[in-house]
Amino acid sequence: QEIEVEDKSSDVVWHNASVSHEQRVAAQGHKPAVLWFTGLSGSGKSTVANAVDKLLYDLGCKTYLLDGDNVRHGLNGDLGFSDKDRVENIRRIGEVSKLFVDAGLLVSTAFISPFIADRDLVRKQLADKQFIEVFIDTPLEVCEERDPKGLYKKARAGEIKNFTGIDSAYELPKLPEIHVKTAEKSIKACAEQVVNYLIVNGYIN
Ligand code: PPS
Repeated sequence: QEIEVEDKSSDVVWHNASVSHEQRVAAQGHKPAVLWFTGLSGSGKSTVANAVDKLLYDLGCKTYLLDGDNVRHGLNGDLGFSDKDRVENIRRIGEVSKLFVDAGLLVSTAFISPFIADRDLVRKQLADKQFIEVFIDTPLEVCEERDPKGLYKKARAGEIKNFTGIDSAYELPKLPEIHVKTAEKSIKACAEQVVNYLIVNGYIN
């Protein structure tokens, strides 16, 4: 998909902040990054991301959680589920995540983010190692059986169009930094897997 965003900023001058990114990071005591959770609806993205956010918060990290359903009520309330709207949804969330990372936070985002190109675009906008793709790999059959919001049932009945995994694509991550299988272990174990990655790779002590 092509991303067409008209740039109306040619007459806008960038202001350098008085407090540098390095100073903000030094004040946190851990490295900033975005944990980009991606997976089907009902895969457990929000649940695992919430558990990770809580574990990190309890460890004393400065964190923030951006969640699909919540962001779609506010910032992205004007967007639906066409391919074009999903691209714009992820572009905006990428920009917001970048601001939080600049502020020195460990940000967890929980969006289906079905397209490889959009996830890679966010990755490219961040510095090396600041984008951590977390694939919440739950088989469609399991998501459909869980169906916590009854949306798969509606999608199968044709009451919802463009539903991810049914009549809208989900492009599998090729090389995610973290591969989580929620059907095989507990939420706690999934969250610990993510936090352990951060410890082993020197993001937190
Ligand atoms: S996306 O694809 O990244 O832009 O989607 P996202 O912002 O994460 O929003 C997904 C949640 O919206 C609900 N919902 C749908 N999902 C997929 N396809 C369609 N057509 C759709 N319509 C509504 C659904 O509750 C998703 O929540 P999760 O938490 O993923 O189950």
